[in-house]
Amino acid sequence: MRKVITYGTFDLFHVGHLNILKRAKAQGDYLVVAVSSDAFNAGKGKKAYYSQEDRMEILKAIKYVDEVILEESWDQKIRDVKEHDIDVFVMGDDWKGKFDFLKDYCEVVYLPRTEGISSTKIKQDLSIKS
Ligand code: CTP
Repeated sequence: MRKVITYGTFDLFHVGHLNILKRAKAQGDYLVVAVSSDAFNAGKGKKAYYSQEDRMEILKAIKYVDEVILEESWDQKIRDVKEHDIDVFVMGDDWKGKFDFLKDYCEVVYLPRTEGISSTKIKQDLSIKS
């Protein structure tokens, strides 16, 4: 079985998120999604509108997603790849090159982002403070 992992906050779940999860799953047979925790985001000066629990529940209900874990630090990725026997690491191409160090452990694939949508844009359009 080919296992895939991807990371993100996935706040205000939108079609860009759906598209990347669908294409991530198509890279293999089993998709693990690591969701940025509220504490991890706070350390980056970000605040999601939905709690980590709600974001995890939404992701678990997506048919392309087989398992949801928490992302609590920048440096857990190598450990995650080893612990979950990951074959492919997938991120949107806004992160292109940033995770190439994982190539020692698995394939690294950057997929094009869906144009015109982001959680930040939704918040701006609806005037939600983050
Ligand atoms: N993503 C995507 N297309 C978009 C938005 C996000 O492919 N239009 C991907 C990102 O590249 C990432 C994953 O979805 O791999 C989770 O991204 P996240 O940062 O949670 O979503 P954004 O909408 O970009 O959120 P923000 O505006 O807070 O950065």
